[in-house]
Amino acid sequence: MRLDKTVSVALGLTRKESRALIAAGRVTVDGSVWKKADARLTGAEKLRVDGKPAAYEEYVYLMLNKPAGVLSAAEDGRGLTVVDLVRPACPRRALFPAGRLDKDSTGFVLLTDDGPFAHALLSPRRHVPKTYEVMLDTPATEEMARGFAAGVTLADGTALKPAVLLPNAADPFCCTVILTQGVYHQVKRMFGVYGAGVNALHRTAIGGVRLDEGLAPGDFRPLTPEERRLLARTQTP
Ligand code: URA
Repeated sequence: MRLDKTVSVALGLTRKESRALIAAGRVTVDGSVWKKADARLTGAEKLRVDGKPAAYEEYVYLMLNKPAGVLSAAEDGRGLTVVDLVRPACPRRALFPAGRLDKDSTGFVLLTDDGPFAHALLSPRRHVPKTYEVMLDTPATEEMARGFAAGVTLADGTALKPAVLLPNAADPFCCTVILTQGVYHQVKRMFGVYGAGVNALHRTAIGGVRLDEGLAPGDFRPLTPEERRLLARTQTP
């Protein structure tokens, strides 16, 4: 990444402000003053501004617990978005959600500015599983579980891949659903085939990464390096 971009990302400055710092000789890389804004960093160097260490990352990866009523979009004239929730913490990042949840759905949304990472995660070829806790308006049945396992055909004729429906022993109206596809309104439409309505839908995991239970609705935190590695690799046969 270029030095001027790195400094602006690290300190939350505009590109113009970071260039002024660099030109003034206030930025050092591995102990030497660097004055060329377009010099390139590999990510391994030690960056200091006015002698103070400046941590920087090329990309941001955030785990958000989406509250109901918030749109899974970057910008939307129609209402509050997941990006609006995290923007104060990352004002200069072009973040977007890697995968969507309906406005009334809640839970794990991954936000990043790493296009290739998001693209790979969402690729239909990767089959990254998504796990949902679902509350129905009728008890989940064996017939639904068998149908999900065989692959549901939606009302419009779309034939879906096999999915998992795990009943909840404590509450017959609740179940866990695991999908390896991302068809629009998929969970709601799958239950619709059985005449069942979804009262609440909460995403609890993407691939091998579970939503942090310590995150209240609207809260977010960076993915750990291990979580990032898991999502970069997750693949089902
Ligand atoms: N399936 C749905 O129907 N809605 C979501 O938000 C996610 C999956």
